[in-house]
Amino acid sequence: MKALVLSGGAGTRLRPFSHSMPKQLIPIANRPVLEHVLNGVRDLGITEVGVIVGDRSAQIVAAIGDGSRLGLDVTYIHQEEPRGLAHCVVLAREFLGDDDFVMYLGDNMLPDGVTDIAQDFLDHRPAAQVVVHKVADPRSFGVAELDPEGRIERLVEKPREPRSDLALIGVYFFTPAIHEAVAAISPSARGELEITDAIQWLVTEGVQVSASVYGGYWKDTGKVDDVLECNNKLLEGLVSSVEGEVDAASELVGPVVVEKGARVVASRIVGPVIVGAGTTVEHSHVGPNTSIGDNCVLRRTYMDSSIALEGAQVTDVRGLHGSLIGRNSCVGPAAAPSSHHRLVVGDHTRIEVAA
Ligand code: TTP
Repeated sequence: MKALVLSGGAGTRLRPFSHSMPKQLIPIANRPVLEHVLNGVRDLGITEVGVIVGDRSAQIVAAIGDGSRLGLDVTYIHQEEPRGLAHCVVLAREFLGDDDFVMYLGDNMLPDGVTDIAQDFLDHRPAAQVVVHKVADPRSFGVAELDPEGRIERLVEKPREPRSDLALIGVYFFTPAIHEAVAAISPSARGELEITDAIQWLVTEGVQVSASVYGGYWKDTGKVDDVLECNNKLLEGLVSSVEGEVDAASELVGPVVVEKGARVVASRIVGPVIVGAGTTVEHSHVGPNTSIGDNCVLRRTYMDSSIALEGAQVTDVRGLHGSLIGRNSCVGPAAAPSSHHRLVVGDHTRIEVAA
């Protein structure tokens, strides 16, 4: 079996980050989402992976390379513009050949793994097997209506009155039967080739399409709040390790990782927290539920439930909470005494200040 991981897309819901980076490289517990996804694929025993990339492919190639670091053999497939999930299958036709494959959205986190579902697919080989998850409000999802045997009777995209609470989440298992389906459908009203239409085409043809319920933790990391929530979740399993320096005036409480070359000076860190390689934390309070990337600087700052990306600098800010701070951003006081706030804020940025 091969894997097709979708790592193109527009990422409009994750602006401003997606203006300058592919959303699949947003770090969760200091590892890009895409790396978590690829580890999940490797856990299925798959090594041949096609990765769909869009106009920010260079950053993805720089982060993942040929995949050998993750025990994978990665082939990149370029998509000029996001023309839909089923369009990705069309583009990957040559890479996929006549093999079965798992299609995995590159921004979806299923940390509890889908190995049982993969095995079930290999044992029964329906034309397609989708992974579904019970959600409280199915109206913004593709929803699967099942018969008592777990076979799909109908797929409905964003139903106003859902007849099931089983939403399609970002993992699909396919036999080569899907190629005929993606060739048969037309673009939807939003101009995309929809994978739900292709799967519905198979259902209408009368071939077997099954669904398996994933009961573990699932998160689509397409929005800032979901990225932060997922970071909290992944940090739950953190195991302490200190490779950097922590001075005698500092206190580490609970699971804290201080990576190589990081320095913690006169600070209190309440885990779970990761302090990335080469980062300096001075006279600060950090955590819980915080991931600080590599080569950041925090001075006289109080921060919890947040993520700072590589190279971020925060000085003299107390009470940062639920924040996502971009690469090489600076947050702090004016250089000279001033009674003004001065903001140099990029497109689609959101700043919330305490009233
Ligand atoms: P989505 O999150 O559904 O789409 P998007 O990336 O355009 O995001 P937004 O809604 O915020 O604008 O895409 C799911 C995953 O599939 C994501 O990892 C991007 C990827 N994708 C492609 O690779 N090609 C595509 O044509 C589309 C639509 C998505």
